[in-house]
Amino acid sequence: MPHVTVFGSLNYDLVVSTPRVPQGGETIHCDSFATHCGGKGANQALAIRRLSPPTSVGVRMVGRVGEDAFGQQLKSGLEKAGTNVSLVETVPGESGVAVILVERSGENRILVSAGANGTYEPKDVKLDLFRVNGQALTDYLVLQNELPLPVVLRAIDVAYDSGIKIVYNPSPMEQSLLTPELISKISYLVVNESELAALIQEDFDILDFSNYDALIELVKKVHTKYDFKGTVVTTFGGHGTVYSIYGAESVFVKPFKAKQVIDTTGAGDSFLGAFVGAVADGKSVPEAIKWGAAAGCLAVGRQGAADSIPMLYEAQVLVESGH
Ligand code: RIB
Repeated sequence: MPHVTVFGSLNYDLVVSTPRVPQGGETIHCDSFATHCGGKGANQALAIRRLSPPTSVGVRMVGRVGEDAFGQQLKSGLEKAGTNVSLVETVPGESGVAVILVERSGENRILVSAGANGTYEPKDVKLDLFRVNGQALTDYLVLQNELPLPVVLRAIDVAYDSGIKIVYNPSPMEQSLLTPELISKISYLVVNESELAALIQEDFDILDFSNYDALIELVKKVHTKYDFKGTVVTTFGGHGTVYSIYGAESVFVKPFKAKQVIDTTGAGDSFLGAFVGAVADGKSVPEAIKWGAAAGCLAVGRQGAADSIPMLYEAQVLVESGH
């Protein structure tokens, strides 16, 4: 059975829903407050688990939480969902926390305090984390940018040398990391619209989402700019997705129509989890994109990050209905 390891952040999300974001020096009443489990790493691990059959794909989370009540909740939430958490360590200090403002349009603004996620050092990424007796322990490694960047770089090097396929979601975007040398080690680069703009160093003022050819050309630039021979997947929110497989096809995939947009937090993580789970399960890239799009579409209709991630059967209804 193929295995996916997610090496990344676990955050406790403090979510404020508000009519608007206050200005400097201003106090306003919000609509509601809620707490949810989150962190891009943990959300993606949970999404892979929820959106791929446990008999077909194994999922392991590698990360750190603090010695606080948040840490226990974060770890047990993943474990209850069936994710292997044997490599989620509890370290002295606080867990990662994200303060999230969600406006009525569903758009969010996120501030992250790294806490335990920030305690990793490159020397902690040992060869045996991904390899035993020369054998890779996992088939896919999923990474984001919520761990210290030298740690992300080290993990990419170690996994690449072990022959593990790397799925990289460079979020939050850190342009200094983006070198052709780093990108060449990635198999699947999954980005949103603003991350694509940073990758290809262009400002997108207004994108015409009905011009599929133009969107495809933008995504293809990643191959030329970085001599990238892997697959680029770019999500354009509710407007659709473009994938580009080097030397093969570059295609626009239409979105599923969300019934309502309540909170976009975690939608990208849901997409990524469903996509990776489907790829690991042997599905083609276009098929896997459909699963990702269905998961993201369902997630925006619910509050929270981890709590908004749909189940396999829910995404299946959408994928089979085709709209
Ligand atoms: O992608 C959404 C996540 O970003 C939230 O759960 C928050 O923790 C931040 O990491």
